[in-house]
Amino acid sequence: AKFPDSIELPPTADMHVHLRDGSMMRICTPYIRSGGADTAYIMPNLVPPITTVEAALAYKSRLHAIEPKVTFLMTLYLHPSLTPEIIASAARAGIAGVKAYPAGVTTNSSAGVVDWKAFYPVFGAMEQHNLVLNLHGEVPTPKPSEQAARETPVNILTAESLFLPTLHQIHTAFPRLRIVLEHCTTAAALDAVAGCGSCVAATITAHHLWITTDDVVGDVDNFCKPVAKSEHDRRALLKAAVGQYDPRLEGRIMFGSDSAPHAIDKKHVAPGQKSAAGCFTQPYTTQLVIGAVEQALADGLLEGVSEDKLIPALRAFLSENARRFYGLEGSTDTYKIILERKPGVGMMKAISKSEESDEVVSVFRGGMQTWSLRW
Ligand code: NCD
Ligand code: DOR
Ligand code: ZN
Ligand code: ZN
Repeated sequence: AKFPDSIELPPTADMHVHLRDGSMMRICTPYIRSGGADTAYIMPNLVPPITTVEAALAYKSRLHAIEPKVTFLMTLYLHPSLTPEIIASAARAGIAGVKAYPAGVTTNSSAGVVDWKAFYPVFGAMEQHNLVLNLHGEVPTPKPSEQAARETPVNILTAESLFLPTLHQIHTAFPRLRIVLEHCTTAAALDAVAGCGSCVAATITAHHLWITTDDVVGDVDNFCKPVAKSEHDRRALLKAAVGQYDPRLEGRIMFGSDSAPHAIDKKHVAPGQKSAAGCFTQPYTTQLVIGAVEQALADGLLEGVSEDKLIPALRAFLSENARRFYGLEGSTDTYKIILERKPGVGMMKAISKSEESDEVVSVFRGGMQTWSLRW
């Protein structure tokens, strides 16, 4: 199979986005539509995290003021202060979900989960009020003394696989709770989701369709959490994105860019400092997905995908599956995005500088040629 020179798609629903706050928010938010998305599911790991309905609604209005044409779906940060009553009021306020970060696994996750059972009353309320539980699926690194006693050591390569029993436990305890295993990076994660019921879905990023661990070593712009895994895993993600991995996943694989801007000096740090995790893909989300699938087809990684199934599969991944799973209102029939192959179009290397700030954010794969996109 191969792409035509021009592709028409419904607008993308980007179901996992970090836009930060303040000047970074003002720099990044205008690029959602450049990437072809009209819907963005907003992560709550601000400093401090979004843990109240009021804070989520105030954040939503700040975003909406910058970009009125995008639908912002808001989330709360799973935090000990959340109660079943707050979940009920979040549902009434139209908040879509709650994001759970195991403690310490990624950016601003120090207030994250240590004991999942402690949150079961909150999960019960979420199931009842139909809020989605979004899981950052990595186990925290244990203390050195505990690590030494483990059969499989926890590290950035094993942390996702070791989390999968937790997904299973929560799904078993709350079978009607809608759960999304975010930013899957392994075949094992896809297998775990496939083995769950229809209430459990997964997101896949654009960057994990491009890179493996080898690309991360030596290039901090490819460093994100969870870290990209093996070529075997990348191929599984590509297949899942075009609906060819496991028939049980039909309708349950959604796009979530996990675009995660960090100022360049937080990524390119001094020796001995820890680089911030995150790939910034927002301006080219849809283009990067199409480009990765196109490259995979050319590399013979997706044999068996027929031409007539390719575009419908991408519509499902980029837009329809999310809109169905999240029960989003409205039709995208009147809106479309058009992607065209125009040699010479290279991606910006970085975005920068609002009036009040000179922060610069490197763009994932900046400089590489890509599809042009218009509305
Ligand atoms: C840290 C990590 O990678 O574990 N995050 C990061 O570098 N952005 C953990 C943390 O500081 O929260
Ligand atoms: O790479 C990541 N960056 N992964 C996450 O889960 C969080 C994100 C961020 O907020 O920077
Ligand atoms: Zn995450
Ligand atoms: Zn994220």
